[in-house]
Amino acid sequence: MTARAPSYHDLAGWYDALYDARGKDYDREARALLELAGSRGVAVTSLLDVACGTGRHLASFAGRVDEVAGSDGSADMLTIAAARLGPEVLLHEADLRDFDLGRTFDVVTCLFSSIGHVEDAEELDAAVAAMARHVAPGGMLLVEPWLTPEQVREDGVRDIVTAEQQDGVIARVASSRREGGVLALSFAWAVATPGGVATLEEHLRMPLFTADRYVAAVDRAGLAGEWLDHLDGLAAGRGLLLGRRQP
Ligand SMILES: C[S@@+](CC[C@H](N)C(=O)[O-])C[C@H]1O[C@@H](n2cnc3c(N)ncnc32)[C@H](O)[C@@H]1O
Repeated sequence: MTARAPSYHDLAGWYDALYDARGKDYDREARALLELAGSRGVAVTSLLDVACGTGRHLASFAGRVDEVAGSDGSADMLTIAAARLGPEVLLHEADLRDFDLGRTFDVVTCLFSSIGHVEDAEELDAAVAAMARHVAPGGMLLVEPWLTPEQVREDGVRDIVTAEQQDGVIARVASSRREGGVLALSFAWAVATPGGVATLEEHLRMPLFTADRYVAAVDRAGLAGEWLDHLDGLAAGRGLLLGRRQP
């Protein structure tokens, strides 16, 4: 994971500032997800957020759910999450494609398209199976997917975001283009601090799966899969993948 997406390590300290600049409302998203689980009859007393990043959804879940835990592949993101959440919230350094925390939770989430960091359909199935193994009887898996082929603009997207925090400023430019069943993404960051300017480039290839293929991954993992095109409160607008384990 380190080699694939170095920004989740080298620029972890800037992650929150960039999404604050974008106006991402983590609390609203967490509430929408818990309301959905509740509306489907899940009594949520425990929750695991896979690829939790800096722990902002977890901070909202923690005020509403008795026991929350998180996992992520980046120790640097987890350091920020730990500072935010304190010792009550257990955090695990784990690869989402294959992990075993040795217990289950009423709800397992994987949000903001973190699932898109798989190489191919085989890894999608492995990741969904690993998450599904952590869903308790009667519990629910909630995965905010990466883009589907239908959601991708043929001419790609060019994008810039800037942010400021106490020790400096950051700018990120991005360009995406579709290459068959994959979205190729290029990013460049420039960070200005009192020490000077540092730059980082990253190139990702994130596979595009159809809604049916996402649902099939959940079904194969032994849960009942379902796809929602939209959930009010989820800002990315990429839909939502659900999996329900029989009570
Ligand atoms: C777009 S961020 C989302 C973070 C957080 N869920 C949020 O909503 O802000 C993607 C996260 O996935 C993590 N990640 C990427 N590949 C991973 C892998 N193979 N295993 C575990 N975590 C991974 C990154 O470290 C990063 O924290």
